[in-house]
Amino acid sequence: YFPPFLLLLSLSWASSAASTESSFRECMLTQVGSDSIILSSSSSVYTQVLEFSQQNPRWLNSSRKPVLIITPVHESEIQVAILCSRKHELQVRVRSGGHDYEGLSFLSDTPFIIIDLIYLRSIEINLAEETAWVQAGATLGELYYKIANLSKVHGFPAGLCPSVGLGGHVSGGGFGTMLRKFGLAADNVLDAYLIDVNGKLLDRQAMGKDLFWAIRGGGGGSFGIVLAWKIRLVRVPATVTAFTVERTDQEGATKLIHRWQYIANKLHEDLFIRIIAQKLGRSGQGIKASFNSLFLGGKDKLIPLMKQSFPELGLQAKDCIEMSWIQSILYFAGYHKDDHPELLLNRITSYKSFYKAKSDFVNEPVSETALEGVWKMFQEEDVLTLLIADPYGGRMDEISESATPFPHRKGNIYNIQYMIKWDVNNYEAENRHVQWIRKLYRYMTPYVSKSPRSAYVNYRDLDIGTNKHSNTSYSEASVWGKKYFKGNFRRLAHIKTKVDPQNFFRNEQSLPILSPVP
Ligand code: FDA
Repeated sequence: YFPPFLLLLSLSWASSAASTESSFRECMLTQVGSDSIILSSSSSVYTQVLEFSQQNPRWLNSSRKPVLIITPVHESEIQVAILCSRKHELQVRVRSGGHDYEGLSFLSDTPFIIIDLIYLRSIEINLAEETAWVQAGATLGELYYKIANLSKVHGFPAGLCPSVGLGGHVSGGGFGTMLRKFGLAADNVLDAYLIDVNGKLLDRQAMGKDLFWAIRGGGGGSFGIVLAWKIRLVRVPATVTAFTVERTDQEGATKLIHRWQYIANKLHEDLFIRIIAQKLGRSGQGIKASFNSLFLGGKDKLIPLMKQSFPELGLQAKDCIEMSWIQSILYFAGYHKDDHPELLLNRITSYKSFYKAKSDFVNEPVSETALEGVWKMFQEEDVLTLLIADPYGGRMDEISESATPFPHRKGNIYNIQYMIKWDVNNYEAENRHVQWIRKLYRYMTPYVSKSPRSAYVNYRDLDIGTNKHSNTSYSEASVWGKKYFKGNFRRLAHIKTKVDPQNFFRNEQSLPILSPVP
């Protein structure tokens, strides 16, 4: 039974949505000429465009769908879309690679449009200057591929997954296997183009010191739409070395992980050894830890270095694979080093699965007993459970906490990402898996950073707090904001208040507007 008043309500909602859609479309058309970049739900490609870059399929059946998807091919279309959205009170979600862990680039509870930058992904490399202009819709894989096509001795220090978009990734920091040598992707940004709430296109000089600071780590979706980044390329050796050494808990993995915590952030900056710990098999007992490493040099240098700094791992020459930098990108993306680099151009990853993730930073080594408690919890689930530990130190220690909004610098031994992945989604399964990872997070409380317990904004986690309404106060937002940005949160909120005083660019974890001083 559908009560008549509900029927009336839904009919009137549908007709008001249709009229907003047509007014918005009209507004766009008066200024952009062609409507081929505007996709409504009746378009044959709407669903395909909406779903193709969603990394986490948890929300595929969500009812929180956009009124329209705009796929601009020119910056002027973004400028018009912002102004028309404001006029017709539609929210904007901007999407570059679609990898947001909580789907904030394509979901909203209020009527909204998606501005999808899929067609804005040109990459112009200037080798003489060792820089590149990269549009925000390009993926890391596209950037790495293009660099390697022009030079065997240049690279860029950013994330491991090739399908991640430059727009969101750099906005939140962005780190990968070269962070100990070169810092974050955001640390290597020299200039940017941003379209602000008034539809103005601003470069570094026009946006000013504060806004240029804020967009390099303050998280995507609060300040405007980044159109392109100018990045500094870094020099990489012609030969790098990778290895993956696996040990089960029966083979002493826990002791090795414990020991790793004392050296991981103090190793030579050319050496990055991360750990991926996971349950052995679906229903198996115990865990396996993979010590997964990139060394910026040949194995003749790596082996003595490992003997000196981490002899317990027992690294041997046969474990080490020499390769070019671009082959290391393939290797860390889960391909074989000899696979074709064109694979990096694939914008859709082959390993899409339902997941929930959370993050922590570790300042003091976690005891073996505490680690064993994590392995015990891994056994409670019959799906893939992971703990990924990425070492900091090196260049990360040299950059001050306030140099960019990303504050997790000196004093952090490593970052943890906890993840649970599952294949069959239903309410019951999702609820069970999400509750499990929350329990793991509670369990880790005594062992990780405190006051605030910090988190990485690019591993977006709405559990740590959300904006409840459009004028969420600074103190309410501080609950999650200080975890991501620590002492930089207030400066970010100041800048947000200055550049977007009506809080147009907002989402569940966008920066708050500071209340006017009475
Ligand atoms: P998406 O398009 O979903 O955007 C993310 C956020 O930024 C949204 O809020 C969005 O609105 C906003 N945004 C996007 N484009 C914008 C633009 N042009 N201007 C302004 N705001 C914009 N991280 C890491 O540091 N190292 C790693 O190795 C990895 N690896 C990794 C693997 C996989 C499989 C996933 C799913 C994620 C990662 N990440 C990661 C996390 C990744 O850095 C993070 O999810 C980024 O925000 C993704 O950026 P996208 O542009 O792909 O996402």
